[in-house]
Amino acid sequence: MKALVLAGGSGTRLRPITHTSAKQLVPVANKPVLFYGLEAIAQTGVREVGLVVGDTHAEIEAAVGDGSAFGLEVTYLRQEAPLGLAHGVLIARDFLGDDDFVMYLGDNFIVGGINELVDRFNTRRPAAQILLTEVSDPKQFGVAELDAQGRVIGLEEKPERPKSDLALVGVYLFSPAVHRAVAELKPSWRGELEITDAIQWLIEEGLDVDSSVISGYWKDTGNVTDMLEVNRLVLESLEPRVEGLVDEASELVGRVVVEPGASVERSRVVGPVILGAGTRIRDSYVGPFTSVGADCLVSDSELDYSIVLQGTSIVGVGRIESSLIGHHVEVTASVNTPKAHRLVLGDHSKVRIGT
Ligand code: G1P
Repeated sequence: MKALVLAGGSGTRLRPITHTSAKQLVPVANKPVLFYGLEAIAQTGVREVGLVVGDTHAEIEAAVGDGSAFGLEVTYLRQEAPLGLAHGVLIARDFLGDDDFVMYLGDNFIVGGINELVDRFNTRRPAAQILLTEVSDPKQFGVAELDAQGRVIGLEEKPERPKSDLALVGVYLFSPAVHRAVAELKPSWRGELEITDAIQWLIEEGLDVDSSVISGYWKDTGNVTDMLEVNRLVLESLEPRVEGLVDEASELVGRVVVEPGASVERSRVVGPVILGAGTRIRDSYVGPFTSVGADCLVSDSELDYSIVLQGTSIVGVGRIESSLIGHHVEVTASVNTPKAHRLVLGDHSKVRIGT
C-alpha cells in the first residue's frame, strides 16, 4: 500500500495567513498540522508517500524534505492548480501504479491514528473505504446516505439539502478501481474533480464501498475556529518541560513547555501553554490553550486561547484572545491622542476591536 497526501489547496478560509504560507503548515502546538498526518501514515507501516503540492510547494518541500524524518519516502507531485481532490489522484496515476492507497487530506486532523482503518481495508478488501462522522453543518462537506444496514447508497458533495448529517472525513482507502472512476469525472459546480463523485461512480457500478463512522476526534482545520480548537485538544495532552529560563518573579501554573532559549520574566503562564525556542515573555500573562512559536516577544500584554506564529511581537496592548496571528507580525500600542487604532493589515485580514 502507498499513501497519497493532498496539500495543494489554497486555504481561502485561513486568509491572510495563507496568502504567504501553506495552510497545511499552520502549527498546532507548534507543529505543522500536516506533520500529524504524516506521522499517522508512518505508524501504519506505509513507506511510499506521494505528496501533492501546489503554489506553496517550496515551503512544503522545505518543511517535509525527503520524508526520512518521518520514516517515509516522499515523492512530490505538482498540481498546477487546485482542481479538486480527484484531480490529485489523476496526476498521481504513475506514482500510484496498481497499488492500493490511503488518501489523506493534509489539513485534516484525526486523533488516534489510522491503523485500524488500514487493517479493516486489508481484511475486507472493498473497492473503496470511507470514513464518516456526524457534523452539525453537513452542507459544508461531502455527505453520505446509508441504508438500514448501514451500507453507503449515495454520496453528494456540499449538498443544498443533505440526506444525512454524516460527513466524509478526509481519509479514504482505495483499490486501483478508483482510477477508472476518476477518468470518467466531469468538473463539479465548483469547477473541481470531486473525489466524492468518484466514489459515487464506484457505487453506481455496483462495486463495494465500505464505510465506518469515526470513533475519535476529527476536524478539518480549514478555518480559524477549528484551528484554535485543534490546538486546544493537542495542548490538553502536553507534557510539561522547562528548558528555557523562568525568573523568580514568574509563575508557571499547570502544564507549560518552555523551549530552549525561551524566557519568562515577571510573568504568569497558566497552562497548557507552549512557548517556542527563543521566545520572550515579559511582564505578561499567557493563558490556557496558547501556542507561541519561536522567536516571539510578548511584553506588557495578555494572551489567551491563541496561536502565534514565529517572529511576532505583541507589546503593551492589553488582552488578546481567540486569535491566530501570523509570522513576523507587530502588535503594539498606539501613543496617539485622540485614542485611535493604526492598522497595517494584509488582504482578507479579520480584526475585531473591543470598544
Ligand atoms: C473536502 C471533500 C469533502 C470532505 C472534506 C473533509 O472538502 O471534498 O467531501 O467532507 O474535504 O475535510 P474541501 O476541503 O475540498 O471543501
